[in-house]
Amino acid sequence: MDCKELGKSGVKIPLLGLGTWGIGGFSSKHFGGDDEAVRALRLGLELEMRFIDTAEMYARGHSEEVVARAVVTERESVFIATKVSAENLSYEHVLRSCESSLKRLQTSYIDLYQVHWPNPSIPIAETMRAMNRLVAEGKVRHVGVSNFSVQQTREAQTALSREELVSNQVEYSLLDRSIEAELLPFAEKEHMSIIAYSPVARGQIPRGGGDRRWQVLEKIAAKYGKTNAQVALNWLIVKDPVVAIPKAVRLDHVKENAGAAGWKLTQEDQVALDSAFK
Ligand SMILES: NC(=O)c1ccc[n+]([C@@H]2O[C@H](COP(=O)([O-])OP(=O)(O)OC[C@H]3O[C@@H](n4cnc5c(N)ncnc54)[C@H](OP(=O)(O)O)[C@@H]3O)[C@@H](O)[C@H]2O)c1
Repeated sequence: MDCKELGKSGVKIPLLGLGTWGIGGFSSKHFGGDDEAVRALRLGLELEMRFIDTAEMYARGHSEEVVARAVVTERESVFIATKVSAENLSYEHVLRSCESSLKRLQTSYIDLYQVHWPNPSIPIAETMRAMNRLVAEGKVRHVGVSNFSVQQTREAQTALSREELVSNQVEYSLLDRSIEAELLPFAEKEHMSIIAYSPVARGQIPRGGGDRRWQVLEKIAAKYGKTNAQVALNWLIVKDPVVAIPKAVRLDHVKENAGAAGWKLTQEDQVALDSAFK
């Protein structure tokens, strides 16, 4: 699969990664679907989506344990991103959360460690001091944020004195284009990656609808011999700073999502989707 540079790091990541919210459970641990989830993640890796996004809060850490099972024999060739929760952003808590994630992921390093949500009651400089230390110790390769505004991203960037802040993970899809006002232009200018979450709008885009915008999407999809989901994902990843992390446990969904890369919507079709989904 084609890759893009992660921020200004020089490291390349695939245009499409694998989301894991709901894998291993949602807000509590659920073990019943683990085998199915491992199969889905392994298929995603086989199809070259060699980038997995997880978080300490997903299934209270069990999502990270499922990821560990999926990558166990090929850790070095998978890019693993995880997140520290908003309530754990003090210096000591970041260090502790990182150790716990490393254990659950059964790895000695995290490729991308992200601040999951901003927490106004803890100075970002304190959080980033811990991130600097984790990078210096080799436990974290790159640092990112998630759900940060432009102003918060700037502050985080300044606070992370020794490293580049490489990414901001935010909601972005045909159905939620709010980042286009400020954050996307900022990321373009700063060469920061945007990791688009809920890129198929939690299943809404593949389901479609009856009004005109869906007709535009379906017509474009038919022209390329692709599905709605594939067009919606391609519309994201054709934008310079953007990579996307659809989550899927159904194997046909995983395959379909992998087929969103390797081709490119024309400029004209991108504009047609822009105006249909305004
Ligand atoms: N940083 C944050 O605050 C934050 C917030 C939300 C999400 N995220 C991350 O972003 C990832 C993706 O977002 P998301 O899980 O919210 O939403 P999503 O990827 O837009 O949608 C996932 C849902 O869509 C279904 N689906 C996926 N591909 C499909 C396809 N080709 N056809 C039909 N249905 C399809 C999945 O079904 P099946 O699973 O049944 O296949 C699942 O129900 C998360 O898993 C998580 O890693 C981060």
